[in-house]
Amino acid sequence: MPDHFSDLLSRMSLAEKVGQLNHPNVHGADSTGAGSAVNDIESQIRRGEVGMVAAGSGLDRLRALQRIAVEESPHGIPLIFTMDVIHGHRTVFPLPIALACAWDPELVRRTARIAAIEAAACGVALAWAPMLDVSRDARWGRCAESPGEDPLVGAAFATAMVEGYQQADMAADDSVMATAKHFAGYGLAEGGRDYNGVDVSPYRMHNVVLPPFKAAVEAGVGAIMVGFHDLSGIPCTAHRELLHDLLRDHWGFDGLTVSDYTAIWELINHGVAADIKEAAFLAFRAGVDIDLVSEAYVRFLPALVAEGRLAEAEVDAACRRVLEAKRKLGLFDNPYRGLDEERRKAAVLAPDHRRLAREAAASSCVLLKNSGVLPLARTGGTIALVGPLADSRANMQGAWAIAAEPSDSVSVLEGMRAAAGDRIRYARGANIVDNPDIAARLNVFGEIAPVDERGPDALLAEAVALARQAEVVVACVGEAREHTGESASRSDLGLPGSQQKLLRALHETGTPIVLVTMSGRPLALEWEAAHCDAILHAWFAGSEAGNGIADVLFGTVNPSAKLTMSFPRSVGQCPIHHAEAPTGRPIHNAGFEVGGDSEIDAAGRRVFKKFSTACRIEAAHTPLYPFGHGLGYAPFAYGEMELDKAELAGEGDVLTASVTVRNTGAVAGEEVVQLYLGDPVASRSRPVRQLKDFQKIALQPGEERRVSFRITAAEIAFFRADRLADPELVWEPGLIRVEIGSSSQSLAAATVDWRAS
Ligand code: BGC
Repeated sequence: MPDHFSDLLSRMSLAEKVGQLNHPNVHGADSTGAGSAVNDIESQIRRGEVGMVAAGSGLDRLRALQRIAVEESPHGIPLIFTMDVIHGHRTVFPLPIALACAWDPELVRRTARIAAIEAAACGVALAWAPMLDVSRDARWGRCAESPGEDPLVGAAFATAMVEGYQQADMAADDSVMATAKHFAGYGLAEGGRDYNGVDVSPYRMHNVVLPPFKAAVEAGVGAIMVGFHDLSGIPCTAHRELLHDLLRDHWGFDGLTVSDYTAIWELINHGVAADIKEAAFLAFRAGVDIDLVSEAYVRFLPALVAEGRLAEAEVDAACRRVLEAKRKLGLFDNPYRGLDEERRKAAVLAPDHRRLAREAAASSCVLLKNSGVLPLARTGGTIALVGPLADSRANMQGAWAIAAEPSDSVSVLEGMRAAAGDRIRYARGANIVDNPDIAARLNVFGEIAPVDERGPDALLAEAVALARQAEVVVACVGEAREHTGESASRSDLGLPGSQQKLLRALHETGTPIVLVTMSGRPLALEWEAAHCDAILHAWFAGSEAGNGIADVLFGTVNPSAKLTMSFPRSVGQCPIHHAEAPTGRPIHNAGFEVGGDSEIDAAGRRVFKKFSTACRIEAAHTPLYPFGHGLGYAPFAYGEMELDKAELAGEGDVLTASVTVRNTGAVAGEEVVQLYLGDPVASRSRPVRQLKDFQKIALQPGEERRVSFRITAAEIAFFRADRLADPELVWEPGLIRVEIGSSSQSLAAATVDWRAS
């Protein structure tokens, strides 16, 4: 690599080099933690003590701060402006968990591109995204920000996001640098409680947690943010094996590593540092380059070097990485990139951005159930639109929409009225929650869960009266946006009681019910699945939520999304996912299925066999809606699965698995054809099945297509790892189970023998 900075580094004092590693909290209002805003940021910048700051405070202010850095600081090194750009910027796209459900990396890349264009035009150079935490526990609020439970889906999402943000040239004035986060394992927080510890083996880290991060590194991601949590007793922020031995030495990552917000300071709370100086020592020694708002480095690194506890050469290396990031972003040539008000105005919420938001919203709604009531007829009688989320704009924006205005979004009421005018009659029906304490928590950033003055009974009566006169009810129910995201773990996954009561009363009217559910996590919808006629899970669909949802409800768009996170029957099943290891029981099925749980006997009773079943007493083991599940308005028929070989020999052999898929419906549609593999006898207990590939195909009515998957040793290989930094990728000959189908529980299967030679 050419050396751009030796001369500059040789002229910088130790304190100035440490200054480049400092990301203080400038604008207190934007904080996501306890870090207090520094009082006199201007003087700090002038002294060369600041490397980057958050971009959240208007272009004039950013321009003024940048001018001080460039004209008045010792070496004129520009600042990097940073921001959480997670699912869009001013134009908000569906939550990452929703977008992933489109199974369409190109769509993800296009949304990331628009997000980068808008963010860059608002001065942002470094985005704290993509979030890549494989999430298997719906209680954890941050699954909203993630692509879901599967490493392969996560890896595809990672590549698409990094490409969309960075393009081939990060210096382009519409690129931003991406940050893969939170490294690593945060999505497996014990009990789904945010910030909780994670005790996970190196084996699971490499096979489940790390693949999306590896994909991001391979796509050239500029930065990696370190998780808040502890990994088997060592907080990631102090985890040298993770950040240095694995990330730097083994993977060869040469970009920036960034602590999470106040995470260096939090090493004291984790109980591994007695004071902030020790915390600075541990984090820097572990390999954290940037101190995000703890101000530990700027205060203590110079002393730690002077005392001989840290080497100045390590500070030079970290500082060089910051300078290199600034060079890649083109900041030395154009420090005022993106600080132009006219350009900002033209970029944000541009019509083509909103068009993509509408397309993305419709593409990420998952049709979980449809007894035939959808799509709604375009003409006809009254549609009763009810529910506390029907007339909400702000909630549509989901967990991370810090650059958006609540009024930017289209509500479902507005979207449906635009599609069907006066046929749409509205009644709120219920509060999101009746409990004033929970409402206050949800309203922390503005009133998104108002408690209606009319009282729950009056709300309910109005909705029931409306439902009685209507042809169909569309009920918009679910979480408030603040039910999800950071610091929003839950112990209940059912709809809040107020909304359950509403649905039961609506059901009694006998009018068919279409449920539009919204949330940032899988919900437990067993009663709803049994009593409603259709369920469209819309997550939080962004700026164009109402229009996108109306497009699907009225059939302008044929839904094609499929879940990337399993929906449990009840909260007690969590964590639940499709790639579970086989259990030892039931013994007759050992190694393959978690079957026997949901068999029904002649009297119609569910069979529960003590000691020979893996289910729970109250419910079957299977999820209510499995990973990969999602319906459309055109059914697809799968032909027989065909394998071109029954036996294979050697690591270089290739197997082709094919299936013919036919659109048997009356409208054009898209189907996600999924390939799963299982390895029934291996040196480690391998998952029952693992997603290994997918293809999204579009078929006209009556059209059929042969879909083929090429399976090589790489698809079967897995990591054995006794140490985190020492993984071994192995391919083991033996029986391989191949499955193709339309969801992780709707599969045709065959087994091949793949011999060593
Ligand atoms: C979150 C990060 C985020 C950071 C900066 C933290 O609380 O965990 O995901 O990037 O704040 O806003």
